Amino acid sequence: AAATSVTLTVNGEPKTLDVAPWETLLDLLRERLRLTGAKKGCDQGQCGACTVLVDGRRVNSCLQLAVMRDGCEITTIEGLGGPDELHPMQAAFVKHDAFQCGYCTPGQICSAVGMIREGHAETSDEIRELMSGNLCRCGAYTNILDAVEEVLA
Ligand code: FES
Repeated sequence: AAATSVTLTVNGEPKTLDVAPWETLLDLLRERLRLTGAKKGCDQGQCGACTVLVDGRRVNSCLQLAVMRDGCEITTIEGLGGPDELHPMQAAFVKHDAFQCGYCTPGQICSAVGMIREGHAETSDEIRELMSGNLCRCGAYTNILDAVEEVLA
């Protein structure tokens, strides 16, 4: 099938690309735009390593076809903070040592930012539940929870 022209605003910059019908948002970000912060863990919606914000809402970018997101605003981990400063969630992850290998971290942070915007996280149990789509094989969950709770407080 023919490629389709898609325009996305990625981290504040408009990008127009021809995309194949089967191309995922994750592949577009990583392979075409060289934004490799979002990670390909499972490529099937199970790990959350590919989480980015689409129009402010967290999504697993491996499950999104790029053509479906024409006109959308995408924020990746690269665009979350300012040019010279960390986003408060990034700073909290550093402070609380909320990672070991770091592979899941961009997804964890984007997911946590999206979760707070959704406005349903108040207790530790709610945070755990709402962050349960983001897996960490190193088991840094306790420190991740501490970091998220600090930002929420
Ligand atoms: Fe998308 Fe695992 S790579 S959920």
